[in-house]
Amino acid sequence: MCGIIGYAGSGGDSDTLEVLLHGLGNLEYRGYDSAGVAVANASLSIEKRGGELSELKDALAGNADGFDGSTGIGHTRWSTHGPPTDANAHPHTNAEESVAIVHNGIIENYLELREELSEAGHTFRSDTDTEVVPHLIERERAGGADRETAFREAIGRLEGSYAIAAVYPDCETVFAARHESPLVLGLGSDGNYLASDVPAFIEFTNRVVYLDDGEFAALSPESVTVSDGSGAPIKKSVETIAWDPEDAGKSGYDHYMRKEIAEQPRAIRDCLRGRIEELGGTVTLPELEGLETPSSVQFVACGTSYHAGLYGERLLQRRGIPTQTFIASEYDAARLPVDESTLVVGVTQSGETADTMAALRSANRAGATTLALTNVVESSAARECDHVLYIRSGPEISVAATKSFASQQVSLSLLATALVDSASSAAFPPREYLRELRRLPDHIQSVLDDSRADAVAEEFLDADAYFFIGRGYNAPVALEGALKLKEITYKHAEGFPAGELKHGPLALVTESTPVFALVSSREQAGATIGNIKEVQARDAPVVAVTDDPESVANHTDYVLEIPETHPAVMPIVANVQLQLVAYWLANALDRPIDKPRNLAKSVTVQ
Ligand code: M6R
Repeated sequence: MCGIIGYAGSGGDSDTLEVLLHGLGNLEYRGYDSAGVAVANASLSIEKRGGELSELKDALAGNADGFDGSTGIGHTRWSTHGPPTDANAHPHTNAEESVAIVHNGIIENYLELREELSEAGHTFRSDTDTEVVPHLIERERAGGADRETAFREAIGRLEGSYAIAAVYPDCETVFAARHESPLVLGLGSDGNYLASDVPAFIEFTNRVVYLDDGEFAALSPESVTVSDGSGAPIKKSVETIAWDPEDAGKSGYDHYMRKEIAEQPRAIRDCLRGRIEELGGTVTLPELEGLETPSSVQFVACGTSYHAGLYGERLLQRRGIPTQTFIASEYDAARLPVDESTLVVGVTQSGETADTMAALRSANRAGATTLALTNVVESSAARECDHVLYIRSGPEISVAATKSFASQQVSLSLLATALVDSASSAAFPPREYLRELRRLPDHIQSVLDDSRADAVAEEFLDADAYFFIGRGYNAPVALEGALKLKEITYKHAEGFPAGELKHGPLALVTESTPVFALVSSREQAGATIGNIKEVQARDAPVVAVTDDPESVANHTDYVLEIPETHPAVMPIVANVQLQLVAYWLANALDRPIDKPRNLAKSVTVQ
């Protein structure tokens, strides 16, 4: 998803172009397919390229004349309107290049604006929605508006979502605005910064100001001002971010994904820290103070987070709370039974996913109580909702979600325990259940230490397709195992609740389609083994991920063993084996694991 960086430098040690390129490098994890920069001097110096950031750097290495100004903006683009060409890359300008713009989001009324501007004689050079903005500014300037007013008036014409930054020639100020796309300001000693996300400038400053929807900012080398749409100043609080630079590196692993898989024990410990009291069998989540036990729960989420929602649904249903999980883009609270006693939970690692944000807004409009379950402090989801529960995963760079899924599952386990008094529950005896959550990091560590997933992956490099089955708590992890494998290996994979296989997908099962079966000794083991026999009878190789190797020994070709634990905790451990299978398969196939084609880490368009 697009990334923005802006810098108003004070002429100190930091070189503007270096700051911009470094920031874009730190935003690469968001996913992109072109990149560009603009630096303001007497005129605007602009370079932009379709493709990797390295192509932009190569172009600048040959010719950086004119890029020595103190103020600039940069952008990594993830295509929405028009292919990833040089012309469609940002920054965009008007014909005279009297202003340059970078934008993240979608301008919904751009066709109407483009027509209006074309009729007034403006000509366009790209397919993008963004290009209307510099032309709108040009028109305001021609009418006599100063730079800031022209920017504000142009933004006032836009419908849709945007984080936008602009620079002008002969001007040391970066102008910016935000509506439904993230934008954060950084206050430094060598100047001031803005970006889509903190890692873009964290090496330069950890003092940040988060912009809210409808706010404008003006960054000069010496000052930062924030105002509303009418220009009235807004006083913002400055926050200090705790950041360990090691978190952003690969720590010796070949890929961020492998590092993040290995970080799961630590992430889970962080998630649990200070929240469980095992002896008393209680969970304390001070952030949820005032949240009553809801009459029903609806999860809204996408992709991996949707699978976490399905897992949470099972946890709450078995505690007696009617719960449904919705793919966020299909959710419309107005068509559902929703009132203030309904808790709508947006599960979103990034806190910026546009589909999830739209679902949460719809829930808020319908009067539901909303909760964001997110990894990113002060993200859009965190700010949209009545309550926030942070999953505390630490930064996740690889596009494939791994440790955040584990932390989501653990957070949902805590949420379910906190929401429903399960003191008398046979399914969740509180002490035993919390003990198993506490032991979870050790269980995962033992899988990481002993896993044979690499050998299993090696056996099936040439398979036609890969199927994943599981029942009950394991069914969402079957779906997640398939998503992870297809996302990073580009091989066909599908996950099913095990009982569904015989209702259609069994027709696809052959000796070239390995089936990964999640078998829990304490959760419908007999029924799942029955499903394994069905696929074995069709000659499909079977890989069991199980805490009870003996019971499956006669029916499987390979076993990926996991420690025995509570049946609701098992899928969190089992999933690690499936993450490793996907990783080693993708590695053997030499795929770009951290940045799979066509995908973005943070999907901020609907
Ligand atoms: O940031 P979110 O959790 O809202 O992202 C939702 C999905 O885009 C995300 O989980 C996606 O499916 C993963 N990258 C898959 O690994």
